[in-house]
Amino acid sequence: MESGFNGSVRKDQTKFSIGQFMKLIKTTQPKYLLLAMGVLLLVVSSGVQIYVPKLASSLVNHFSKGIDYGLLGKVFALFVISAIVSAIGGTVLGIFGENVIQNLRKSLWQKLTTLKVSYFDTVKAGEISSRLVNDTAQVKQLLAVTFPQTLASIITVIGTVYMMFKMDWHMTVAMVVAVPIVVILMMPIMAFGTKIGHIRQEAMAQFNGISSETLSEIRLVKTSNAEKQAQVRANNEINKLFKVGKKEAVFDATMQPIMMMVFMSMVFGLLAYGMHRIAIGEMQIGILMSFLMYLFNLIGAVPVIATLFSEMAKAAGSTRRVQELLAEKPEDFTKGIELDLAGKTLSVEHVDFAYEDAPDDPILKDVSFTAKPNEVIAFAGPSGGGKSTIFSLLERFYAPTSGSHISHVLNIVHSNF
Ligand SMILES: Nc1ncnc2c1ncn2[C@@H]1O[C@H](COP(=O)(O)OP(=O)(O)OP(=O)(O)O)[C@@H](O)[C@H]1O
Ligand SMILES: [Mg+2]
Repeated sequence: MESGFNGSVRKDQTKFSIGQFMKLIKTTQPKYLLLAMGVLLLVVSSGVQIYVPKLASSLVNHFSKGIDYGLLGKVFALFVISAIVSAIGGTVLGIFGENVIQNLRKSLWQKLTTLKVSYFDTVKAGEISSRLVNDTAQVKQLLAVTFPQTLASIITVIGTVYMMFKMDWHMTVAMVVAVPIVVILMMPIMAFGTKIGHIRQEAMAQFNGISSETLSEIRLVKTSNAEKQAQVRANNEINKLFKVGKKEAVFDATMQPIMMMVFMSMVFGLLAYGMHRIAIGEMQIGILMSFLMYLFNLIGAVPVIATLFSEMAKAAGSTRRVQELLAEKPEDFTKGIELDLAGKTLSVEHVDFAYEDAPDDPILKDVSFTAKPNEVIAFAGPSGGGKSTIFSLLERFYAPTSGSHISHVLNIVHSNF
């Protein structure tokens, strides 16, 4: 049941914590009134769904004495009302969820733009955009879709089973046994489908990564005569995609008939049992019809409840990743002094620098130079020698590290800016 959500979300070991989840939701200042309204409407719609089959059964039971048009009208009216109420409820929750995701994305984006350059060295752009796009969607999905639908489904199941027991307990037992068996049979099939989907997404991402990397560095590929390697590398990925695609094709083609077979067997079994009870005079025909309607209620509701935990597991990782990003320390924009640079000499003295991810591998060691206004200076050195790094330091994307000259250097670099 990947309802309307098709982003890729990596699973991790994070346990779902309702406290953490609600803490995150609170930061988006959600419109609780919309949430309450949406949930209420879904609950009302569940109530109607529980009540209609009972009404329909009286209608059918009276057929031998003619058609009760009043009752017939009522049944149809309730169908319409249930559909409308459910549609409005879904819309309200949808808008509520979109509002949450909007605020979440805005605060993530605002945070991102204020982070230090070094953050973007350590976290890949793809990872960040996945948080912005997929993780936020997962959080919204749980709050605005899974939770309300699960609540409505639980009410549907409890109400349906209660009504069924009141009507005919023999049939109820048959159904309460049959439906979970069918759902349990279906679960591994569906889980397998989801797994294949994930493998395909991963293979796709890998192929995407390799091809765009190669294409963006095509000049480098050409100058180093690496066309062959580039071909082999991408070919491997394309072959992997083919393998996954084959599996997916088999799965797609067989799943539908298997599901149909299992479902039809169940419906047939229950109908046959009901007919038998009618034939021996233990049950009225109207009851059988309402049981058929209740069957649809249960078939719709049970999988929603069954997938609650996997949805929560998915949202747990997303919640943590979004929270981590929101907790990153932004750059201090108020620190430092404003200086007019015009006509000033830029001097750098005894600067040592190593990137955070390789602190033992200093890129700059004891670098000193001065640049007077209008003076032309050239930085020469091998690729990877640290030329661009010097400019990153001058732009103050990074601060000089280690060495006894640090404060001294900072002062000098500082006061000349
Ligand atoms: N953001 C970073 N994080 C970690 N290491 C980095 C980072 N940027 C550069 N390096 C490493 O620092 C070293 C110096 O890189 P830099 O880009 O300053 O060299 P360069 O002299 O500008 O090279 P080129 O002539 O190829 O432009 C290289 O070994 C590079 O791998
Ligand atoms: Mg460079």
